[in-house]
Amino acid sequence: MKKKIAPSVLSADFSRLGDEIQAVERAGADLIHLDVMDGHFVPNITAGPILVEAARKSTKLPLDVHLMIENPEKFIPDFVKAGANSISVHVEVLNHEKPMRSALDLIRRHGVSPSIALNPDTPLESVLAYLDQVGMILVMTVNPGFGGQAFIPSALKKVERLRRIVQERGLSIDIEVDGGIKADNIAAVSQAGANVFVAGSAIFKSPDYSQTIQLLKQRAM
Ligand code: DX5
Ligand code: ZN
Repeated sequence: MKKKIAPSVLSADFSRLGDEIQAVERAGADLIHLDVMDGHFVPNITAGPILVEAARKSTKLPLDVHLMIENPEKFIPDFVKAGANSISVHVEVLNHEKPMRSALDLIRRHGVSPSIALNPDTPLESVLAYLDQVGMILVMTVNPGFGGQAFIPSALKKVERLRRIVQERGLSIDIEVDGGIKADNIAAVSQAGANVFVAGSAIFKSPDYSQTIQLLKQRAM
């Protein structure tokens, strides 16, 4: 599967958001990861559909929207309208089968790729019933809320197991990892079976975005 780098703009300079997005696009980014936080599901707040709309005006790259919010189903149409290409909802929020299936359906009916995110402490079992309904599973490799945290090593086994199950079921879904991804651990995560790598601080806090993204890609091969 193609290995893709998804810079998370959470660590970008928000006073120059459009420029920052264009800079990572020129530097070889494959998609743009947008973190939406509500101060309830996670202890931090960012911005909603206006963030996606601003990103949409800045780039043609796919916009990968990570919803760390309660009641995501209420806002899905707004994020679609704003220009999302994929939308991840957390299984800790939609923790019953009916609401989860209907949120995934809603995303798909809008022509957007549905994805489920799960936190480091959430067992893989919680997402296995939905694998045939998603384009991607987002495995959190830190507790969500902030950029710049350290990668949680136990996530490696989870990725490995998930990739094995996906293969056994004959599916071809993306496995995205998010949190603490750096040049020194991306090879191991890739080896475990992840193919979409979110990186915020590793890219935006580096002096040369292009060099950093190329290095991440090389090591992920
Ligand atoms: C954390 C966010 C991440 C974050 C990653 O809640 O979901 O996307 O921006 O940042 P780094 O790569 O710095 O850990
Ligand atoms: Zn994220």
